Amino acid sequence: MCGIFGYTGFRRLGPIILEGLKRLEYRGYDSAGVAFISSGLQVMKDAGKIDEISRKFNFSGIDGKLAISHTRWATHGAVTQTNAHPHISCNGRIAVVHNGIIENYIDLKRELISLGHKFRSETDTEVIPHLIEEFYRKTGDPLKAIFMAVSKLDGSFAFLAIFEDHPDRIFAVRYKSPLVIGLGDGENFVASDVPAFLKYTKKVIFLDDMEVAVISRDSVEVFNSLTREKVDKEIYIVPWSVEDAERGGYPHFMMKEIMEQRFTITRVLGQDDRIREASQLIKDAQKVFLVAAGTSYHACLASSYWFAEIAGVNARAVLASEFPSISKLVDDKSLVIAVSQSGETADVLESVRMAKKRGSKILGIVNVVGSSLMRISDAFLTINAGPEICVLATKSYTSQLAILYLLVNDLVGRLENAKEEIKRAETLVAHMLESEALLKDIRRIAKDLSASEHIFLIGRGISYATSLEGALKIKEVSYIHAEGFAGGELKHGTLALIEEGTPCIAIVPEDETKDQTLGNAMEIKARGGYIIGLSNEEHVVFDELIRTPSETSLSPIVMIIPLQLLAYYLALERGCNVDQPRNLAKSVTVL
Ligand code: F6R
Repeated sequence: MCGIFGYTGFRRLGPIILEGLKRLEYRGYDSAGVAFISSGLQVMKDAGKIDEISRKFNFSGIDGKLAISHTRWATHGAVTQTNAHPHISCNGRIAVVHNGIIENYIDLKRELISLGHKFRSETDTEVIPHLIEEFYRKTGDPLKAIFMAVSKLDGSFAFLAIFEDHPDRIFAVRYKSPLVIGLGDGENFVASDVPAFLKYTKKVIFLDDMEVAVISRDSVEVFNSLTREKVDKEIYIVPWSVEDAERGGYPHFMMKEIMEQRFTITRVLGQDDRIREASQLIKDAQKVFLVAAGTSYHACLASSYWFAEIAGVNARAVLASEFPSISKLVDDKSLVIAVSQSGETADVLESVRMAKKRGSKILGIVNVVGSSLMRISDAFLTINAGPEICVLATKSYTSQLAILYLLVNDLVGRLENAKEEIKRAETLVAHMLESEALLKDIRRIAKDLSASEHIFLIGRGISYATSLEGALKIKEVSYIHAEGFAGGELKHGTLALIEEGTPCIAIVPEDETKDQTLGNAMEIKARGGYIIGLSNEEHVVFDELIRTPSETSLSPIVMIIPLQLLAYYLALERGCNVDQPRNLAKSVTVL
């Protein structure tokens, strides 16, 4: 949901800003802009892709002392040049870029208009520079003005502000939306996410809610905006390499990240102590909730079957956005296991805050070390998958499954066995991804299916979660309507949608669900459906077979691989933007 990036230091401003923006493009890509100070405050912004806008204004040629920039995923106000960030104060001497939503902006706008402020855009963000201007006029002190402005804002925000009068400082504020400062030597960075500056520094400070940082090229000071006191911040070293955030010869991050699963799955190993601490939390709890959104929710759903079957634990998977409606069930004997790649998803963080208020303990499972979820959890596990840049979650999904599998097995004293199974699953994934024949087959099937209006996926038991995740991948990247179903549910209504040639993917691992799923595939075929089987062997019901290994215990990890590939090739066949599907953003930091 929007990316913000700021820089102050010795490098040429234009290229570094452009690079930072490009690396955050996955967070939003409908408009972009930059504000910088070079003989006065200047703003360049427009609707469109970063490359187009950069060409139009020659971003690379920008020079000056410091700059703030923005790539937008619109929430309030259409995608237009006027609504693009940065937004400026009436006198044009203060500029702001913002990620999040100012919920009380209508009231604030009315108040500011009555004080004589003139608004240019339809955005919620524009109230921020006007508010700061108002308080700056009164106090003459930029930091005080920011503190006062922040105290008026409701909602979620991470914003950067610069003042023409103070051309050596970037002011950075965070409340419920992510913001991280990169510490350099004679230069400093601030961004919504680490990859924006990973090439230059791995030393970072994560801002906490209601903190304000004053960033100049040689110093970073952080204040609590409520007490206005200075805060000592911990410096984290990010464990990612620069190459992790590069495409590395692949045409798209999606393919790179799918391929990385040949070695990322076992990167969950090596956290035995933390796993033991986490299992103790589960053992101490009377109720366990697995809370997440999107793909991470599908990992939770799959693991709820493992919790039940392997450990006899009733762990309920709940969509984070629905959590408020069942939050009354949560109490001080509960454990919420919150799973999030980014650790910044607003629905997940809100659920966690709600659960904490009710006395529940929180176990966070994240990819991004230092993320908000990790920091507000009582205990955490990381999946260590490296930065996931493509908007679609792929490698984080298999790693989430792997860590949840270790956790469940630790509950019954099988951690060591589970580790071996994870290693084996990764080998099987690697074999699939290295099989040119398999890739060719899937590409051919994608070509055949590329004109389909609908694709249905069925799976039973734990493969139901795989069917949902496979459908999500197909939908979000190829824009084909795809739906996953529990195989047994079709006859309760959806069978009515099956016509001659309707494609249906049957997920058939070698487990106890096999015969019944095949039976459901028969029912579909009898009504004209075209059946693509994911299975380790041919079956009369299949019109096509995508051959998968006969893995049973970790079938969700193994079976999702061909579906990720199918989604990728469908998108290519249909000429879709693979890494940046329309209307989406990687981290959904608004409720
Ligand atoms: C799908 C996808 C989203 C995310 C969801 C949660 O490919 O990427 O559905 O899984 O927005 O994000 P995290 O895991 O960062 O909380």
